[in-house]
Amino acid sequence: MMKQPNPKEQWNNYSSKYANIWTGGSRTLMRKNEMNFIKKFIFSDTKKLLDVGCGTGRILEEYCGSNNILEIYGIDIAEKMVEICHQKQMTCSKIKAIEVCDISCEEIPYNVSFDLVSAIRVFKYNKNWKQILEKLLKKCSTRGMVVFTIPNSRSINRLANFISTILRKENNYFIFRSNYGELKRICDNANCELLEISSFSKIPDFLYDLSKSEFYGKVVLSVERFLEILFGKILFGKELFVAIKKK
Ligand SMILES: C[S@@+](CC[C@H](N)C(=O)[O-])C[C@H]1O[C@@H](n2cnc3c(N)ncnc32)[C@H](O)[C@@H]1O
Repeated sequence: MMKQPNPKEQWNNYSSKYANIWTGGSRTLMRKNEMNFIKKFIFSDTKKLLDVGCGTGRILEEYCGSNNILEIYGIDIAEKMVEICHQKQMTCSKIKAIEVCDISCEEIPYNVSFDLVSAIRVFKYNKNWKQILEKLLKKCSTRGMVVFTIPNSRSINRLANFISTILRKENNYFIFRSNYGELKRICDNANCELLEISSFSKIPDFLYDLSKSEFYGKVVLSVERFLEILFGKILFGKELFVAIKKK
């Protein structure tokens, strides 16, 4: 049985464990590839950024290291995630505010036009993710950009998750997905330019988490590279990384 997602409850419960996911072999390498994708869209005139669903501040921290950026903002639905960001005492003076906000039904609490808005691994928990995307575009400056991710409806991971739900008889949360064709249509309808769609992994999640050793990480990444040569970047990709720009 699939439960309706309740991101607030889910992420308040999971907040203390979340940062650990991104440590160790294959995850660290995957994280690097993903951050390189986001950073491609930070230009010399990208001054004000918002990270939606900022979690424990993983992406906010990366933004702090970028020279051109002047102001960084974050929001998250889960109080505990925002608390962790504040406790980390992010000393970076570019971070102007991190607040609790449910983007699915609330307005962004900052009176700012953003040059870049990111929403990484957030839309999949929200049924109205297409409306959220429209909301984010409205808060962008002229020619502003949104970089977001959404799981691919045509991935091996989807099948693996389905089988694991049946075998473990767990009540997994339902996850919202999309695909290349739909994303292209959404982008056209929103009068946006599709800058890039990419994906960095095809191997199911559970294989990433079997070991945190660097050697295992390199093996996983080599298999990923081989699959990419066979199928290209997008086909069977797990999480689609999308960058769009207002026309
Ligand atoms: C998988 S975590 C990703 C965190 C971060 N973006 C990263 O990549 O490390 C998903 C985050 O999205 C947040 N989230 C989900 N739905 C949200 C919503 N409607 N409004 C604001 N935050 C939301 C969750 O609380 C959680 O912190």
